[in-house]
Amino acid sequence: MGTPFISLLEPSNLEGFRLGIPRESLPSTIPKTFLDAMEVREEVFVKEQDVPKDNEFDADDPRSCHWVIYVSVNKTEVPEIRNEQGDIVRPRKSSTRSTPVGTIRMVPFPHEPHPKAGGDYWNGVLKGEEEKTTNNSAPSARQFVHDRPTTFHDGKEPYIKLGRLAVIKDYRGYRFAGQLVKNALDWIKKNPSFFDPSIRELGLEQMGASTETEAPQWRGLICVHAQEEVASAWARWGFEVDEGMGRWWEEGIPHVGMFLRLEIGPKDIQLLA
Ligand SMILES: CC(C)(COP(=O)(O)OP(=O)(O)OC[C@H]1O[C@@H](n2cnc3c(N)ncnc32)[C@H](O)[C@@H]1OP(=O)(O)O)[C@@H](O)C(=O)NCCC(=O)NCCS
Repeated sequence: MGTPFISLLEPSNLEGFRLGIPRESLPSTIPKTFLDAMEVREEVFVKEQDVPKDNEFDADDPRSCHWVIYVSVNKTEVPEIRNEQGDIVRPRKSSTRSTPVGTIRMVPFPHEPHPKAGGDYWNGVLKGEEEKTTNNSAPSARQFVHDRPTTFHDGKEPYIKLGRLAVIKDYRGYRFAGQLVKNALDWIKKNPSFFDPSIRELGLEQMGASTETEAPQWRGLICVHAQEEVASAWARWGFEVDEGMGRWWEEGIPHVGMFLRLEIGPKDIQLLA
């Protein structure tokens, strides 16, 4: 296995994407990095963890940043042949392919409200409240509303979400997940204004602000909805369990909320205009 490399895909047009359709049949406008990310997610979440296929790709994908980690895998196409004396009569032929083995995504605010402690969510919809939830609504229709306060989140501060972290089974234990998380955190530290909405495009009212200084701006807070089983890995990467958020289920898998605050310098308000 050669040295891995990581590709970043910024928010992009994914119109026409559907999971389970061969690549060749999808619109050519869909970036290859995204198809690679979905190849990993399908393998890990749909095939291994039994998440319904229709719930895997969602309305947050086009507005998110995605990272994919690749390794070069050498495959023997034609084996070597030796004669009785042990001399090579036909050399081995091999090819090297960059294989996507892991992925993570970073979702900008606004988000759906924090999940209800003890709640059982399927495709973002709380069981028992199917008819009244507007969950999984198009993010463009989401409001910058106040959420319930938790241990690390006052309910108001804009936060970025990391999620859909997955590494193909055969490639686990090589710190690929750690590298993906580190890459994503380093990138947002260098680009802290990337997801700040433009006042000009959105208008103050839509942002729930009355003055420019009230406009939502990211100040370093990052959240994950961690599968309970891997909470210790997130802890290793600096995240802390938010006790106030409680525990809930997504697609039948128990989750906890975790937060990390990155130190970012002061921002220039001009960047928002
Ligand atoms: C969680 C996951 C992404 C970790 O990938 P990875 O590249 O093996 O992780 P790393 O090598 O960077 O190690 C991080 C932690 O993962 C866990 N881990 C390591 N090897 C593992 C393996 N073979 N199987 C399962 N978990 C493993 C360990 O807790 C490790 O922490 P440690 O080093 O303190 O022991 C991967 O196991 C996975 O895709 N799991 C299924 C999907 C999932 O649960 N996603 C998380 C959603 S929140």
